[in-house]
Amino acid sequence: MKAKILALLREREDYVSGQELCQRFGVSRTAVWKAMGQLKKEGYQIEAVQNRGYRLASNRQVYGRHELESRMDTAWAGKPVCFYEELASTNLQAKLDAENGAREGTLIVADMQTAGRGRRGRSWSSPPGTNVYFTLILKPDFRVELASMVTLVMGLAVAEGIRETCGLEARIKWPNDIVVNGKKVCGILAEMSTERDFIHYVVMGVGINVARQDFPPEIAQTASCLEQECGRAVSRAEIMVNVMKAFETYYGIFRGDGSLAGLLDRYNGMLAGKDGEVRILDPKGEYRGISRGINPAGELLVEREDGTVEPVYAGEVSVRGIYGYV
Ligand code: BTN
Repeated sequence: MKAKILALLREREDYVSGQELCQRFGVSRTAVWKAMGQLKKEGYQIEAVQNRGYRLASNRQVYGRHELESRMDTAWAGKPVCFYEELASTNLQAKLDAENGAREGTLIVADMQTAGRGRRGRSWSSPPGTNVYFTLILKPDFRVELASMVTLVMGLAVAEGIRETCGLEARIKWPNDIVVNGKKVCGILAEMSTERDFIHYVVMGVGINVARQDFPPEIAQTASCLEQECGRAVSRAEIMVNVMKAFETYYGIFRGDGSLAGLLDRYNGMLAGKDGEVRILDPKGEYRGISRGINPAGELLVEREDGTVEPVYAGEVSVRGIYGYV
């Protein structure tokens, strides 16, 4: 009910009478009064005026379950929201929850992580009060081979969510990162549990640098955050809701096709370094070529010097620009 009250107060931008709230939600005056008290404790500034009712007094940024739930206008992605002040890792929690029957669309969010995980066994530094750390649980019934494409769908959704929220020209650095002005602002870590051909679950972990500026020296040159890039405060809740909305739409298209065919133009339009020279860091040997965008299977098409086009599978390789990270 608290999320619904918040959504109503936000939409109305004016006083809403206690009586209307009671009638709408079928609860007593005392229940409404209690809910308002709890929302105030969470940090909301709610004015209560006799004979007029309640009003959300400021747009102070509160980040928590009710804020997220009250804004989440999706059918299933990001529902329910499980919010934690602190977790070891949202991916770890999501895996536990998925094993224990959490439904598809469940979103695990933490304000901070004490053991945030990055790709290739790296850690993902996750201080409190600054960034977005979340993991979405999926329980798809498609073939295991399609699972790697979900990362690309999430990448597209994050880029779209950042564009929508901040007006920044976010681009996708295939396959797992999102960059703004050539610097990494987001990383994606997908993990799954399978048995032969069957997928038990996929968890899509996303870390977005929103306000953090003090990056460790080894990534200081290649990382940035949204607030630095757009020069204003950015709402973590708004980003997350916009990402979920975009993900739900794109995932639906992907599921309908069973491939990325329907998302190809959009994806390649946001792909960093497209038609530019790239270095492919393959364990079997590094080579160069021109990035020609992805194919419907999510492989990166790289044109070699002799004109042949090589589809590069994400698993083992890294892609770099000729002069650096992008
Ligand atoms: C990368 O190495 O670029 C991927 C980083 C992924 C970080 C996110 S933060 C939320 C989720 N929980 C984790 O422990 N990792 C992912």
